[in-house]
Amino acid sequence: MGAAALILAAGEGTRMKSGLPKVAHRILGVPMVAYAIAAARESGCDRIVVVTGHGAQLVESLLDDVVFVRQSEQLGTGHAVMCASDALADIDGSLVVLSGDSPLLRAETITRLVEARERSGAAAAVLTASLSDPSGYGRIVRGEDGALISIVEDKDLSPDQRSIGEVNTGTYCFDTRLLFAHLRHLSNTNAQGEYYLTDTVGVLRAEGLAVVDVATDEPEEILGVNSRVQLAEAVKVLQTRINRAHMLAGVTMTDPDLVWIGPDVTIGKDTVLEPMTFLLGDSHVGEECVIGPDSRVTDSRIDDGAVVDSSILMKAIVGESATVGPRAYLRPGTVLKKMAKAGTSVEIKNSTLGEGAKVPHLSYIGDATIGASANVGAGTITCNYDGVRKHSTVIGDGAFIGSDTMLVAPVTVGEGAVTAAGSTITRDVPADALGIERSEQRHVEGWARKQRTGREREGDSEER
Ligand code: UD1
Ligand code: CA
Repeated sequence: MGAAALILAAGEGTRMKSGLPKVAHRILGVPMVAYAIAAARESGCDRIVVVTGHGAQLVESLLDDVVFVRQSEQLGTGHAVMCASDALADIDGSLVVLSGDSPLLRAETITRLVEARERSGAAAAVLTASLSDPSGYGRIVRGEDGALISIVEDKDLSPDQRSIGEVNTGTYCFDTRLLFAHLRHLSNTNAQGEYYLTDTVGVLRAEGLAVVDVATDEPEEILGVNSRVQLAEAVKVLQTRINRAHMLAGVTMTDPDLVWIGPDVTIGKDTVLEPMTFLLGDSHVGEECVIGPDSRVTDSRIDDGAVVDSSILMKAIVGESATVGPRAYLRPGTVLKKMAKAGTSVEIKNSTLGEGAKVPHLSYIGDATIGASANVGAGTITCNYDGVRKHSTVIGDGAFIGSDTMLVAPVTVGEGAVTAAGSTITRDVPADALGIERSEQRHVEGWARKQRTGREREGDSEER
């Protein structure tokens, strides 16, 4: 299609009552404005310009592969478009204009709108919706012949216009050249003292140019997020839409109301997602996995057949048929190879567990490389930080680390070596050796019995 898209995202969003600009608020882990951009892209818009203003630096830091223009004073949606005139000067053809606060709009609807304008040769096409509660939205005013005459903002409605249920969704397709040729005719003599983009409808028509309208067949997609209540509504709609698509593609969810999946996540078939599971960011899950209950996976890859139970994963890679949890915390740089295990209450950071290696219980593993089939006993800690620098630990294939071993890095335990339980290992252990560091155990004969008889005698006199 090759249309350009302009996303309006400069407003403060006063009704959010927030220190954060409205369009930066997140929905399923993704900033609100990114949904409008993704929909524009998916509909074929190959050039995307975003108008920023309130909190511009923050908003711009959240987005990739778009051009920004600044609207330093927010004088209205029409003014926001004027600010983009230079950035779009070389565009000929369709310009899609979207609000950064409408995250539910679907790509197919944008495509329909663009096609309607291009087919009819109109100067503009407006997406409309009929709502049972139209309050807050601009209303569609039609002439006796049914043609669109103008859009009147909620605050500018006359009493007899209040009952109009047909609203402007804030989604448009313009002939770029005609739009910019007529924008200067907008005025700000209205209830809000703003330059309304919606007034372009009247302006274009006054010039004898055609404006067409397209109604959405799914009114919920036009929800504009102006408050936290609407933010929560948007989360619900997107959660339902995303979960439905995964279920139809072969993913089981015990209770889809209790699973939250970001828009960019992929999941293979026959994977089961248990309640209270979050899959966010750039996460990818293979086939036949079981994730959850109570798990949060961010920017991570989980390969086929892996199991993640009640755990948190951030920037981690979990290999085929590996197992994680319950209550494991896999931090950035964790790699579990095929069949490896990070078990109960285990924290791992920047470390690789080789194929079939196991860290089953209560351990901290940081900056370590653990060989294939090695076994790390309960309570083992890699002492990787000396207070100034981080150091690495290397454990060879098939090594056996006894319970409660302290591995003071930098240190290497050779292939097939064993460390004795409770040892503090400060020097490298050669392959196939036993590393043991313990003070000798001694026995005080009869000590326990003497304690007991002493207590019995005290009991006699004190009547305990
Ligand atoms: C707008 C429409 C209204 C429509 C509704 C749909 C106008 C005048 N009104 O109203 O007809 O029913 O959307 O949701 O267009 N923005 C800027 N710069 C500005 C002002 C706004 O970039 O100076 C951006 C905001 O960040 C937001 C979008 O434009 O993303 C819409 O602005 P908002 O103030 O939310 O408009 P509404 O009152 O919702
Ligand atoms: Ca709005």
